[in-house]
Amino acid sequence: MSDLSAVLDALERDGYAISDFLVDRSLAESLRHEASALHSEGVFQPAGVGGGQTRERHESTRTDHIHWLDPAASSIQGAYLVAMENLRQAINSRLTLGLFDIECHYACYAPGGYYRPHLDRFQHDSRRALSAVFYLNDAWTADDGGALRLYLGEAANAPSLARSPRLDPIGDVPAGDYRDVLPRLGTLALFLSDRYWHEVLPARRPRFAVTGWFRTRA
Ligand code: OGA
Ligand code: MN
Repeated sequence: MSDLSAVLDALERDGYAISDFLVDRSLAESLRHEASALHSEGVFQPAGVGGGQTRERHESTRTDHIHWLDPAASSIQGAYLVAMENLRQAINSRLTLGLFDIECHYACYAPGGYYRPHLDRFQHDSRRALSAVFYLNDAWTADDGGALRLYLGEAANAPSLARSPRLDPIGDVPAGDYRDVLPRLGTLALFLSDRYWHEVLPARRPRFAVTGWFRTRA
């Protein structure tokens, strides 16, 4: 996908877009270095899952550790949030999603880490409208695992499924086509948060990303 208008076309047509050029390469590299430095410092925390699950239940769902971005924390985080703000305005000028702001965190999956199939919209908070996952991993190949698996089929989007809090962690995967996206440095995946079931397949290497959600007003 070669330019912004092609990304907007895809979002309008399909409700998702995968792009390799929307964020500068040098910013991607800076984010990668910062993420791994912060991770080494031990500031990442186990990620939460909405709905007050027990810790055991939670770990059967996702294993990543996260650290929220803050524009005041570093110029690198600030630059990424500016890039997302520009993208937000471009998307709003073409689509009627009414995106109001974005929240983002770094995420790291240790080898063996995963996130079971889920939707990104919380049951009690419908503000998350468009998910934006930006990948930070050099020289990643299919053998490294860790793909984002985006379920495209109708069954994956059926209202009855969308109403359930989430799928059973093992099995019960949405039927139909899917698309696997490798978490390569510079790749940005955009998809409608309440429409596309997705999961992170087990990775064999540490896997870094900036995960974000463009939100509507409450
Ligand atoms: C998430 C998520 C996907 C990825 O954090 O909600 O689905 O590819 N992440 O990291
Ligand atoms: Mn998700």
